[in-house]
Amino acid sequence: MLDANSILLSSLNIGNRTAQNRFVAQPMEGNDGENGAVSERAIKRYTQLAEGKWGVIVIEALAVKSDALARKNQMVINREHLPGFKRLVSEMKKADPNALILFQITHSGRKSGKDFSQPTALYDPAPHEHLLTTEEIDEIQRLFVEATLLAEEAGADGVDFKMCHGYFGCELLRPANQRDDKWGGSFQNRTRFLSESVKELKTRLKNKDFILGSRISYWEGIKGGCGTKSADDAVEDLTEMDEVIRLMVNLGLDYVNVSAGIPGVTSEITRPTATSKWFYLHQFRYARRAKALVGDAMKVFGSAYSVLKEEAIALAEENLQKGDTDFVGWGRQTLADPLFPKRLALGEQVDYCKLCSGCSKLMVKQEQVKCIIYPVIKE
Ligand SMILES: Cc1cc2nc3c(=O)[nH]c(=O)nc-3n(C[C@H](O)[C@H](O)[C@H](O)COP(=O)(O)O)c2cc1C
Repeated sequence: MLDANSILLSSLNIGNRTAQNRFVAQPMEGNDGENGAVSERAIKRYTQLAEGKWGVIVIEALAVKSDALARKNQMVINREHLPGFKRLVSEMKKADPNALILFQITHSGRKSGKDFSQPTALYDPAPHEHLLTTEEIDEIQRLFVEATLLAEEAGADGVDFKMCHGYFGCELLRPANQRDDKWGGSFQNRTRFLSESVKELKTRLKNKDFILGSRISYWEGIKGGCGTKSADDAVEDLTEMDEVIRLMVNLGLDYVNVSAGIPGVTSEITRPTATSKWFYLHQFRYARRAKALVGDAMKVFGSAYSVLKEEAIALAEENLQKGDTDFVGWGRQTLADPLFPKRLALGEQVDYCKLCSGCSKLMVKQEQVKCIIYPVIKE
């Protein structure tokens, strides 16, 4: 049971809003939309999660276009699907009026599934990939802004720009993005998407307390990826990603969700398993580094705590006490036990993620995602 005075249970502001505790339910794709719209299953999943009393719930990657999907049944955020998103938020708020609900907005770029979508590269396209034109990226930017305004209309508390895990937003940031138009080459061009979008949103959002943040991969672990010093280097050098985080502060973002790696490429970094457990230490290091950079100007969410099972609690408290992160995020654990924070607070038995990778395998097979060990609580 968590001590009632545990720092994990203490509230903290994100921008002008207050999270009831430090538990973050990280975004987890469910692959259960209905032709891109919110399904009853998704509503049930997220309502269960809200019953778990998380401080922040980040709704999974929502595509801005129906031809930019990584999952066959990924949800698409557009005006046609707005009623479903409104219902999703309202059911979650009924279950827990205090949870902060953020929508993660994405374009799957190169990671779009080729059997049902259009893989689109920013640079060096493979034969099956379409190289995005300047105008097409302009349009994606317009759609990110539009999707954020729709999230606001749906009643969400904020939006997370997905700039991590090898998707479109992440590709933009990479030193390897040496496009010769306004979207590539210089640091300014590679961060233009974020800068321009946020500046526009600051003037267009009606709710001035709407939370804006972004998830990054501090180091992707590939040549020319985020967290390297140049297009032809794979060794970790975080100097430029530090600049990305400083830029986020200057733009007035409310938080950065620190992750790393690319699922399917450098998966162990993103989601450590029993045989790659120690990658969690890199994730701690990245969150600590981000927090040291931003101080009080922005909140930091740490990632990848599921691999630690029960050990995670003491380590999370330690990281929060030391000021190495502001919030602590669990991914796979949200599937194993959506009621995790509530159960810890009440001293009830928790079902810990067994790290079997069952959920990831379902996702890769394009099936509906769930925990295969503790399915009872999900359906
Ligand atoms: C099935 C599955 C779906 C995921 N979907 C998303 C997603 O939509 N957006 C995202 O940023 N990360 C996604 N992730 C990554 C998780 O949010 C998280 O960073 C990762 O699982 C590591 O945290 P954990 O060790 O607590 O599970 C997903 C991971 C899994 C296994």
